[in-house]
Amino acid sequence: MAKLTVRDLDVRGKRVFMRVDYNVPMEEKDGQMAITDTTRIVETLPTLKLLIEKGARIILAAHLGRPKGKREATMSLRPVGFKLHELLGVPVEFADDCIGAHAEKIKSSLKDGQVALLENVRYYNEEEANDPAFAEKLAQNVDLYVNDAFGAAHRAHASTEGVARVIAKRGGKCAAGLLMERELKFLGDELENPARPFVVILGGAKVSDKIKVIDRLLEKANTILIGGAMAYTFKLAHGEKVGKSLVEPDHKQTALNAEAKAKKLGVNFQLPTDVIVATAVNTGKLNKKGKPVMDFTNIHTVKGSIPDDAEGFSIGEETARHYANIIAGAKTILWNGPMGMFEDARFAAGTNTVAQAVAEATQKHGAKSIIGGGDSVKALNKAKLGDKVTFMSTGGGASLEFLEGAVLPGVAALSDK
Ligand code: 3PG
Repeated sequence: MAKLTVRDLDVRGKRVFMRVDYNVPMEEKDGQMAITDTTRIVETLPTLKLLIEKGARIILAAHLGRPKGKREATMSLRPVGFKLHELLGVPVEFADDCIGAHAEKIKSSLKDGQVALLENVRYYNEEEANDPAFAEKLAQNVDLYVNDAFGAAHRAHASTEGVARVIAKRGGKCAAGLLMERELKFLGDELENPARPFVVILGGAKVSDKIKVIDRLLEKANTILIGGAMAYTFKLAHGEKVGKSLVEPDHKQTALNAEAKAKKLGVNFQLPTDVIVATAVNTGKLNKKGKPVMDFTNIHTVKGSIPDDAEGFSIGEETARHYANIIAGAKTILWNGPMGMFEDARFAAGTNTVAQAVAEATQKHGAKSIIGGGDSVKALNKAKLGDKVTFMSTGGGASLEFLEGAVLPGVAALSDK
C-alpha cells in the first residue's frame, strides 16, 4: 500500500521527528573520530532542505554503531552534527542525550526551519528493545514523524517503529522521506515490472545469506549471474573440490534446489567457469582490530577443481568477460554482492570488470542499474563508478531484506496515503 511522503505533510511550525540512518563509517584520526564516507548524510539533504523550506522544526534521530546501551564516546553522533552543518549550510543544534531535559529544551526552542540532532539513540538499550515508554519519551513534544532511514527500516526499534506508532496513535501523521521514497521505488516498484532482459548479479560470501533473494528473483529475472564465495558452495554441490575455500556444506542442497528452480522457470543461471585462487599464509602480524594479517601466495586461475591448499578469492577473467557480455545486453540490472575479495587489488579485477560493464550498460545502452547496497556500493565507489549507475541503495541488511520481499517494520509503521 502506498505510504504518505514528506511532500504530503503540512509541516509549518510543527515539530518533526525525523529518523535518519547516519550510521556512517568512522576512523580515529589524531584522537578524534572522522567520517570516512558521508553518503548517508548527503542522501538525506533533499528531505532536510524540503522540510526547512516548508518551515518545519526538525529533530533528527539516528544510531551509530552498536554501543549496546552504553555511552561509547567513539560512537557519538557529534562529528555527524558538525558534518551535517557543513553540508546543509545551516546550524545544527546538538543534544548530547536523545531524551531528557536537555533534549526537551532544544526541541522546545526550535524555530521554523531550524534543525537539531539528538545523540545516539542506541546509548539506551530501550531503543533496540522497542520499549514503549522510551518511544513515548522520544516522541515527547513532537507533532509529526518522517522516516528517511531506509538502512535501518528492517529494525523494529523505538526510533524506527515505536515513535511512529506513538505519533499515529495521537492522530499525527507519519511519512516517508524523499530518500526512503527513492529506495522503495528502485528496490521495489522498478523491479516489479522490469524492462527486459532483467539481469541479476549476486555475489557475497554465503548462499544462506542470499538464498531468499535468489529464490524471489528467480521468479522475476531472465538471467542470474553468481559470483563471490557463494559460488564455491555451488561447486561443492556439483562434487568439485573447493580446497580451503569458504563453503557451506549444509547448503549444498539449497544450491542445487536454486539451480533446479532456475531450470524449471527458464532462467539463465550462470556460475563461474574459472576462479582466482591463492594460498593464504599467516604473517604473524595483527591488524588494528587484533585480527591476524594474512598474505597470499601462488595466486593463479583455475577451471574446475580448486587445489587442496588453495582458496578461491574471485571470479576469473573468463567468467568476468562472459558476465560483462551478458550485462551489456541487459535493460534492467540489479547487483547485490561483490564477485570476490575486491578490497585486495590482487582479487579486484573480476568485480571491477562487472562494475565497468554495469556502468557501460547504463551510460551507453540506457539500462536501468540498481545497486542493492552494502559491499557492491563500496566496490563501485572504489572503482569510481558510483555516479555511472541509476541508483545505489544506502541500505545494507535493509536492502537485502527488502529484496527478499520482507515487509520492513520502519515502512509498515508509516501512514497509508
Ligand atoms: C546499517 O548500517 O546497515 C544500518 O544502519 C543498520 O545498522 P545495524 O545493522 O547495526 O542495525
